[in-house]
Amino acid sequence: MIGTDINHAAALLKAGQLVAIPTETVYGLAGNALDLSAVSQIFKVKNRPSFDPLIIHLPAFSAVSPFVKAIPEAAAALAATFMPGPLTLLLEKSAQVPDMVTAGSPLVAVRIPAHPVAQQLLSQLGFPLSAPSANPFGYISPTTAAHVDQQLGSQIPYILDGGPCAVGLESTIVGFPDGRPTVFRKGGIAVEALESVIGPLEVRAHSSSNPQAPGMLKSHYAPRIPLVLSAPEAVLAQYPAEEIGCIRFQSAFKGVPEAQQLVLSPSGDYQEAARRLFAGMRQLDRQPLSVIVAELLPEEGLGRAINDRLRRAAAR
Ligand code: TXA
Ligand code: MG
Repeated sequence: MIGTDINHAAALLKAGQLVAIPTETVYGLAGNALDLSAVSQIFKVKNRPSFDPLIIHLPAFSAVSPFVKAIPEAAAALAATFMPGPLTLLLEKSAQVPDMVTAGSPLVAVRIPAHPVAQQLLSQLGFPLSAPSANPFGYISPTTAAHVDQQLGSQIPYILDGGPCAVGLESTIVGFPDGRPTVFRKGGIAVEALESVIGPLEVRAHSSSNPQAPGMLKSHYAPRIPLVLSAPEAVLAQYPAEEIGCIRFQSAFKGVPEAQQLVLSPSGDYQEAARRLFAGMRQLDRQPLSVIVAELLPEEGLGRAINDRLRRAAAR
């Protein structure tokens, strides 16, 4: 069921049940992070491998201390600037955090969502919420309550509707291996913005084997229809125009019907492009197309995170 009753969502979560919740990045599939049966339900409903750890969500960074051993200086500086917001920090976990949540890792991923509904909900609970994106493992993340309902609706008692997600890309994940600030997943906060606060960061390329953050798994965020990164003209030589979907930054491609095209931001605004990407990909994925051809954006700001998602959608 979809609804807007925060108290009902809180009651379900307190009773150990799962609820899909809105955040400013994407919708999450939430459960009490300290309740092993709730956490194992999350893995089951998402069909997520148990080696892929979960982010814990708290109402404020000041609430993090029971769950971590230490907070590096750079982490504190990033938290002061970007939390609440689309940032996740990898910190050394305390014994309070169940090993199932971190998939056995000594690190826990911590995020403070800025969405007002998530904020209100988390403030009512006395525990953190584990919440991966509320999509079946490997598919495109949901940015509306309806997206969640289409795929997981029959498996969870409640979807808390907070409207369409304002950011539309998952959080940026930053860790501190050997004390060096490192981006493990590009996301809703641009690398440049992080660098303006703490100076240069290392950016780890994703890998298909032995990922340090399994969000780094190469094939992820993928639509059902094969997605390729190439010039639309080249694809037009292989398929009839009626079978081609296009994802482009600012302008439509003349050779393919408009209804089969996703133009991310006519004005060239990266935030608008990020907000529209996943919903647009889902919309194309529902059409009877043979292939989706995507154009990469300039490698700057949120363009880098959008390109990361497009590359992963293409890798399979
Ligand atoms: O914006 C977001 O981060 C959303 C919203 C719901 O908060 N959540 C999200 O969760 O994207 P999920 O599970 O779909 O992606 C989290 C990524 C996963 O790739 C996971 O491998 C990585 O974070 N991660 C979580 N805990 C980790 C840990 N302890 N060490 C390394 N990577 C971790
Ligand atoms: Mg996910």
